[in-house]
Amino acid sequence: MQQQGMQRTLSIIKPDGVRKKVIGEVVRRFESAGIRIAAMKMLHLSKREAEGFYAVHRERPFFGSLTDFMSSGPIVVMVLEGENVIARNRELMGATDPKKADAGTIRASMADNIEHNIVHGSDAPETAATEIRYFFSELEIVS
Ligand code: CMP
Repeated sequence: MQQQGMQRTLSIIKPDGVRKKVIGEVVRRFESAGIRIAAMKMLHLSKREAEGFYAVHRERPFFGSLTDFMSSGPIVVMVLEGENVIARNRELMGATDPKKADAGTIRASMADNIEHNIVHGSDAPETAATEIRYFFSELEIVS
């Protein structure tokens, strides 16, 4: 990751995305946009692990419901790599609330509501680093 402007970000296909069988479609969108998948695995978070991942939201009224949902079935976690990939992934995902997401984005096309919104993506370089570390060791990320 030597090139200037190259970034990594964490992407999660949430339990609703896995249940709806859109893993392939989400990955296709990333790859078609020229984003490289540098790491990928499927896992089923415990409630405790979901709470750890979303710890910054623990005071929010939706924390319990969000972490129940995130531990309700398998997820796919990925490290995405590319030029300006944090913002580009957020553009591909669309707004958190699918009702507000631009047409054609992942969330506008596939998500049911603000909680069941198919994908997660890091929002800044610092959170990307923390979130990637939550799921992957450096050895699991392919340069
Ligand atoms: P995500 O990008 O994974 O980051 C935090 C998640 O909390 C968000 O996507 C939504 O799934 C969820 N979320 C955010 N706001 C709300 C809300 N008002 N009600 C329910 N869930 C929310």
